[in-house]
Amino acid sequence: MTGADERRSAVVVVGASQGIGRAMATVAARDGGAIVLVARSADALAEAAAGVGAAGGEAFVLELDLLADDASDQLQAFLDANGLYCDVLVNSAGLGLRGAATLLPHDDQMGIVDLNVRALTDLTLRFLPGMVSRGRGGVINLGSIAGFTPGPNMALYYASKSFVRSFSEALHREVHRTGVTVTCVAPGPVSTEFLQKSGASRATLFRVLPRLKPDYVAERAWQGFRSGRRTVVPGAIAKLASVVTALLPSAVLLPLIDRLQRRSSDLCPCGSGKPYVKCHGRGGFWSRS
Ligand SMILES: NC(=O)c1ccc[n+]([C@@H]2O[C@H](COP(=O)([O-])OP(=O)(O)OC[C@H]3O[C@@H](n4cnc5c(N)ncnc54)[C@H](OP(=O)(O)O)[C@@H]3O)[C@@H](O)[C@H]2O)c1
Repeated sequence: MTGADERRSAVVVVGASQGIGRAMATVAARDGGAIVLVARSADALAEAAAGVGAAGGEAFVLELDLLADDASDQLQAFLDANGLYCDVLVNSAGLGLRGAATLLPHDDQMGIVDLNVRALTDLTLRFLPGMVSRGRGGVINLGSIAGFTPGPNMALYYASKSFVRSFSEALHREVHRTGVTVTCVAPGPVSTEFLQKSGASRATLFRVLPRLKPDYVAERAWQGFRSGRRTVVPGAIAKLASVVTALLPSAVLLPLIDRLQRRSSDLCPCGSGKPYVKCHGRGGFWSRS
């Protein structure tokens, strides 16, 4: 067992096998040092580790399902066994599902809460106290522009990202002046498998908004974090969207998002088995009720 003061600092990237997390690991590796890559897919993790090595970092790979009850204990044990401590935590593992909450499978929706909210909170609360006592490091939590508004037809995802934003911004304030930063990164659509897996790519909203590259998001996120920023909204369109959602009244915003995230072939949430427009007609989109 290595003594705490002999341990090496590490950047721990959760959700590092692909997408934004993988890009974050590569960007962080440019500073040198240990990068711990955490996800479930062994082959994709090996590819990410090669990218970290090529960028100048030393990769440590942990295959881990964050939905396991003892996931954060397993991560801590892995760090201990390798003589590392978590200096920077990047929470990039996330799930989403487009569709009406009354029609989507219950367990899949609870999985969004378990991963996007519970696992992120568990890891943040586990590692943040050590960062504060050392007076350095911090946490980068992947939120979304979805965190700026409720999102009909993707309700759990938007709500989970509102949690991420609220939690991260509150922690940013709590730890200010300790040398530690908590940054919420809130991008719009990014070209990763997330868009297909969540079904978001089929919604008008995600088809009309331009997609950022994961490398760009990672660069902005890392720079913002290193500058002590509370929130990073990468890209001009996402910034505009965050302002517009703050200005529009809910009576306008909710029907608008409902409309932009619904496809005409979607079934009505009432359970009739009919398409939405056959139950409520197109005018229903703008109803206040
Ligand atoms: N893409 C977008 O348009 C977009 C926009 C705004 C915000 N975001 C947010 O950014 C974050 C990253 O998204 P992304 O686009 O990079 O998604 P992605 O390409 O689907 O990557 C998700 C990562 O999470 C890991 N993961 C998923 N479930 C896991 C589990 N149970 N245990 C461990 N790891 C797990 C995946 O690895 P394995 O499958 O190998 O486990 C993968 O590395 C998410 O929080 C997402 O909500 C994405």
